[in-house]
Amino acid sequence: MSNSHIIFCFLSCILALTFIFIFFIKRKKTKFNLPPGKMGWPFIGETIGYLKPYSATTMGEFMENHIARYGTIYKSKLFGGPAIVSADAEFNKFILQNDGKLFECSYPKSIGGILGKWSMLVLVGDMHRDMRNISLNFMSYARLKTHFLKDIENHTLLVLSSWKQNCTFSAQGEAKKFTFNLMAKQIMSLDPGNLETEQLKKEYVSFMKGVVSAPLNLPGTAYRKALKSRNTILKFIERKMEERRKRNQEGKKGLEENDLLNWVLKHSNLSNEQILDLILSLLFAGHETSCVAISLAIYFLPGCPQAIHQLREEHREIARSKKKAGEVGLTWDDYKRMEFTHCVVNETLRLGNVVRFLHRKAIKDVQYKGYDIPCGWKVLPVISAVHLDPSNFDQPQHFNPWRWQGNSKSGNCANTSNNFMPFGGGPRLCAGLELAKLEMAVFIHHIILNYNWNLVDVDQPVVYPFVDFPKGLPIRVQSQCHSLI
Ligand code: HEM
Ligand SMILES: *[C@@H]1O[C@H](CO)[C@@H](O)[C@H](O)[C@H]1NC(C)=O
Ligand SMILES: *[C@@H]1O[C@H](CO)[C@@H](O)[C@H](O)[C@H]1NC(C)=O
Ligand SMILES: *[C@@H]1O[C@H](CO)[C@@H](O)[C@H](O)[C@H]1NC(C)=O
Ligand SMILES: *[C@@H]1O[C@H](CO)[C@@H](O)[C@H](O)[C@H]1NC(C)=O
Ligand SMILES: *[C@@H]1O[C@H](CO)[C@@H](O)[C@H](O)[C@H]1NC(C)=O
Ligand SMILES: *[C@@H]1O[C@H](CO)[C@@H](O)[C@H](O)[C@H]1NC(C)=O
Repeated sequence: MSNSHIIFCFLSCILALTFIFIFFIKRKKTKFNLPPGKMGWPFIGETIGYLKPYSATTMGEFMENHIARYGTIYKSKLFGGPAIVSADAEFNKFILQNDGKLFECSYPKSIGGILGKWSMLVLVGDMHRDMRNISLNFMSYARLKTHFLKDIENHTLLVLSSWKQNCTFSAQGEAKKFTFNLMAKQIMSLDPGNLETEQLKKEYVSFMKGVVSAPLNLPGTAYRKALKSRNTILKFIERKMEERRKRNQEGKKGLEENDLLNWVLKHSNLSNEQILDLILSLLFAGHETSCVAISLAIYFLPGCPQAIHQLREEHREIARSKKKAGEVGLTWDDYKRMEFTHCVVNETLRLGNVVRFLHRKAIKDVQYKGYDIPCGWKVLPVISAVHLDPSNFDQPQHFNPWRWQGNSKSGNCANTSNNFMPFGGGPRLCAGLELAKLEMAVFIHHIILNYNWNLVDVDQPVVYPFVDFPKGLPIRVQSQCHSLI
């Protein structure tokens, strides 16, 4: 063959390949009817705009602009890949309900690196089911009544009794003390104020910063520091575990009988590594979120004196009847009687949105309402955007606990809870949601009965994308007169 022949062959091959390539791309393009939207820059796409901090009681500029331009379901490129973003209540429900069938949990690698490969947030399939079962057993109704309720009240009173009148302090810091101490006690029988509990709390602060930071494992980064904290925390838990194993072998029974660590050692055959990740991530999931939720209630309530008034009536009534009956300490029946409080809890979660959006990916080609979602694409249900959408909630910016009142027969109420998913949904519905609500209600009971508070330095919740008060929510308190009870 002559040279020109070879060149000709070569060129026609390239031409043919190009045609095939174009054909396939064309086919792909016509095959998929993707939602509207734009992909932004190479690699980073629109991630920077999506993660830009904004006020927690809004959807943020990015969401507002995109919804205005494209509607509530749009495509973008986020967290390093093509993504479908949904602010649509029905689609969100569809995504969460089809977890494991059409969609799968898909948190960024950095989360797995730091929470551990056995963390419930990153596990899928059978292993997730087993870990979830352990968590659900640990926080079952029965255990909430018998083990948690008393302890929640104890830890609430411990924190509230340390508050000094007319001094300014961080309400978020106090809420964190409460939720962290509670989880440390329930999970590993650690006592509040004790040196090792305080050290553990300190490590957790630096750990938390890494969970949400860019996953750059370079010296000096928050991520590197968090990985170090992770190791320190794991060593600590491991030491506790060995102590406990020894004690159990010696047949000693102690106050630790009922904590999670003991339960896992006795009733599961998880490996050491699995137990460590489970405990680490439950401690994490169980205190950050409810701390923010309680801070949000403290933040919203002074703006709505009528709600404070009604709460006070409700809790004074409960306190009065307990006094008459000679009871000390809240019971499960008391908790069930806190009807208006439950409205306040829901409204706080609706407007404050502790968890803004979830990470999923399509594991099959999925069709929804005429749109195609290609297999492998990220899917982000934005639960907060649904809660702040005026077509789902009247005057969504308005803190209005009364919107939750009335019986569930009324259409409005059915709609209200239908579009409300602060704890996610489907097979991965928050395992701690009943615990979180109980913590909020008991905390509200005692703060309302014991104190008046006002917000001192104007602070507001900001999405980073985790919700945080930049100044720690400074408040000042005055004691309530107890003789009114
Ligand atoms: C107001 C407080 C809380 C909020 C708003 C909240 C929200 C959520 C949400 C939205 C999810 C779903 C994540 C996903 O689908 O990807 C979740 C999962 C989870 N939450 Fe919570 N949570 C709260 C409190 C708690 C507490 C107190 C615990 C107790 C340890 C807890 C333990 C868990 C666990 C273990 C999961 C994983 C469930 C699974 O994957 O099966 N949460 N939470
Ligand atoms: C979940 O835990 C309960 C109580 O320990 C146990 O009886 C049940 O078999 C477990 N279910 C699964 C699917 O592991
Ligand atoms: C509550 O706290 C008191 C002391 O402050 C302690 O004696 C009691 O055992 C605690 N109760 C529970 C259930 O932890
Ligand atoms: C706190 O301040 C109020 C008025 O601002 C005052 O009446 C009260 O006595 C002060 N209480 C204490 C303990 O300083
Ligand atoms: C214990 O381990 C075996 C084998 O690894 C597994 O089949 C079984 O389901 C496990 N049991 C529990 C309760 O986790
Ligand atoms: C609060 O929201 C939950 C859904 O998460 C709903 O089941 C409950 O009825 C609501 N509570 C009130 C008082 O409306
Ligand atoms: C819920 O709201 C939508 C639109 O706001 C309305 O079309 C629908 O009928 C409502 N459903 C119920 C059960 O009231």
